[in-house]
Amino acid sequence: MVHRILRALCAGWDNRDVSWDEAFADLYEQWSAPMSADVPFYCRLATEADGDVVELAVGNGRVAVPVALATGSRVLGIDTSPAMLEQARAQAESAGVDLDLRLGDMRDLALERTASLVYCPFRALLHLPTWADRRRTFERVAASLRPGGRFAWNAFAFDHRVATELDGRHQERPVPHTVRYAVGDNRVDITLDTGARSSLWWATRNEWLGLLDVAGLELEALYGGFDGEPFADDSREYVFVARR
Ligand SMILES: C[S@@+](CC[C@H](N)C(=O)[O-])C[C@H]1O[C@@H](n2cnc3c(N)ncnc32)[C@H](O)[C@@H]1O
Repeated sequence: MVHRILRALCAGWDNRDVSWDEAFADLYEQWSAPMSADVPFYCRLATEADGDVVELAVGNGRVAVPVALATGSRVLGIDTSPAMLEQARAQAESAGVDLDLRLGDMRDLALERTASLVYCPFRALLHLPTWADRRRTFERVAASLRPGGRFAWNAFAFDHRVATELDGRHQERPVPHTVRYAVGDNRVDITLDTGARSSLWWATRNEWLGLLDVAGLELEALYGGFDGEPFADDSREYVFVARR
């Protein structure tokens, strides 16, 4: 019932396409199970924040729940997927933490008061298809941060060798799926065997730095992983921390 109401609200609230198929939510817990290294990283940033903490594309609360546990404070989470928010609500309830979950698009981020930390884990900014979508999101983040507040996110760095190996190949883990690369559109399409789909548009380091520049944010650090290792030519993950 709640799900149906949220779906209806979502449909009325925005008719722009989002690159996330609701059916992907059904297997998201299994899909995301191999990713855990990011949790302590975002928890540490949250414990260093002296004000509101916001997760963009909060999903099922995989990171937001441990962040709320680590800080002892409410985390505000925004997502376009009613199904994912429903899962996050259930996770928060069973962990006994307070999440302020809101159905919304990160491109339209607007807070009642400025935050100390906005973060976006698990490459979720890559669900935004165009430069304009990302510029708008970065500008909304900048406007939502208090002076000195931080914005942190991670995204994969495109590797042609990985693309060659994976393109069109069926994989069983973490759930049965096939990945296809559309290089001309810098896009990866993930299709689960269930038919659920999700697309990601990769970006280069300079594109990310350009987004900081236009949004008036300053780069604090670019790591090559969640242990704080420096970003190098052979790094495969951008882990960014920026400041307003
Ligand atoms: C890979 S999951 C990440 C979930 C969670 N942050 C995590 O780390 O596990 C991507 C999430 O992005 C959400 N999403 C996609 N486009 C979005 C947008 N424009 N605004 C807000 N959420 C979005 C999807 O609904 C999905 O829950």
